[in-house]
Amino acid sequence: MAIRNIVKEGDEVLAKVCRPVTEFNERLWTLLDDMKDTLEVADGVGLAAPQVGVLRRLFIMNVGDGLIEAINPEIVLREGEQREVEGCLSCPNEFGITDRPMKVRMKAQDRHGNWFYVTGEGLKARCICHESDHLDGVLFKARVIRMLDPSELA
Ligand code: NI
Repeated sequence: MAIRNIVKEGDEVLAKVCRPVTEFNERLWTLLDDMKDTLEVADGVGLAAPQVGVLRRLFIMNVGDGLIEAINPEIVLREGEQREVEGCLSCPNEFGITDRPMKVRMKAQDRHGNWFYVTGEGLKARCICHESDHLDGVLFKARVIRMLDPSELA
């Protein structure tokens, strides 16, 4: 078990476009395992590789229905719309209302390179979109309609 440092807003790695994962080896599995530990300790719902300084296209998430490891993810369907409060482990104590699809379908590879599909609605859809954005160097603030004032968080 290893906890990795979560990169904060302002670090240039968060603004870069990540490259695809091509090797499904022990190095990848260690990264995924470390990211799981890091996400648990940080008490978040999603963590993308660039947030731990790795510029590869993968993220992990758990919105309460089990861990998903998404490698080379691609959103293949977007439906509807939702406006909800969103935050990011790389932007501590900052929250804003974003415009996201209500439902998405994602195609991704697992840690062995096998393709799978997952459908998410509500929070799960938001999370898939948020983490996918990280792989293109986009923070949630770029999607924010309105940032929340600290007084609204109490
Ligand atoms: Ni984030």
